Amino acid sequence: MPEDLHWIDLKTGGYLDWFARKINTWQKAHGRHDLPWQQNISAYRVWLSEIMLQQTQVETVKPYFLRFLEKYPKISNLARASTDDVLALWTGLGYYNRARNLHKTSIIIHKDYQGAFPSCLHRLTELPGIGRSTAGAILALSMGKRGVILDGNVKRVLSRFHFIEGYLEERATTDELWRHADRHTPAIETNVYAQGIMDLGATICTRSAPACSECPLIDRCGAHLRNVATQIPRRKPKRKKPVKDSLFFIICNEDNEVIVEKREESGVWAGLWSPPERCKDYSLGKILGELNLHEDTVLHKTTERPIKHSFTHFQIQATPIYVRVRSTDCSRQGARFRWINSDMIKKEKVDIGMSALALKLINDGPLG
Ligand code: ADE
Repeated sequence: MPEDLHWIDLKTGGYLDWFARKINTWQKAHGRHDLPWQQNISAYRVWLSEIMLQQTQVETVKPYFLRFLEKYPKISNLARASTDDVLALWTGLGYYNRARNLHKTSIIIHKDYQGAFPSCLHRLTELPGIGRSTAGAILALSMGKRGVILDGNVKRVLSRFHFIEGYLEERATTDELWRHADRHTPAIETNVYAQGIMDLGATICTRSAPACSECPLIDRCGAHLRNVATQIPRRKPKRKKPVKDSLFFIICNEDNEVIVEKREESGVWAGLWSPPERCKDYSLGKILGELNLHEDTVLHKTTERPIKHSFTHFQIQATPIYVRVRSTDCSRQGARFRWINSDMIKKEKVDIGMSALALKLINDGPLG
């Protein structure tokens, strides 16, 4: 068959262009078919997976996804949960706003939509945490509707194929990518196409070592034909992130309980629990005072080397100070503090929301 013929579905008039045909044929033979969110497909499961996958690798997401569904099998269960409980299941996954928005959206769907996701792009993108691409994924993957996706993997495939040299951070580049994404997305077999282009980006058209010889698009890929696949897409050189210096007081009693503090309702770790974080010249005496712990109860103190932790716009340089105290005074702390057993502070077990850094500081410390 001549390469440029589109495949036309005579019943619907829908067709696949060359690009979509290559993607779909590849997807059926080589794409992923056994991811947990590809089983028992529903809008709820696809939405949950898409939110978790927004900034996180598939392998990391899998156990979180399964634990989440075990606890909240239906959106009504999630809508009735407390934000704290939802954050607890998100512990270690990062970008906690995703969990807060997930919870808000579940309440809206439960209350305003009788538990069923809307099936139009406009209504979907009104929901907290659902952007144009996530909405496209929900439409395509769970409802069999035409939905256009442009996540990081798809951007890479399209910018290489169309040899788009503009910086990804620039509006003109994203607009151009959306135009290509829209043009290629078929009205038939959209689910195959959506999964296919994401899988191709994740497994073949990878960032630093693309397997071009295995790619179904090789014959017409602009970047490959110019031998510059790894240089596309282009990103603006990163500015150095500002570094915030902090002390973290990991205070443990003789019963192996560690004190954690509920963080304020703003910032990247809003509402999560963490060993108290204070500015870099804070003293041990001061934090003990806040906790109503007498300095006499201190058995041991050690300061460890700082740990760097990176966020989108800044870094934290966290200096951990480990302190062992007698258990005598450990019941007079205010409501924003809690003692928790350090054995419970494992990703799979912890029942309060904690950041990955907080877990690391406690689990990797010398207090045992
Ligand atoms: N990344 C975003 N969505 C995905 C999906 N449905 N499958 C695999 N990786 C993804």
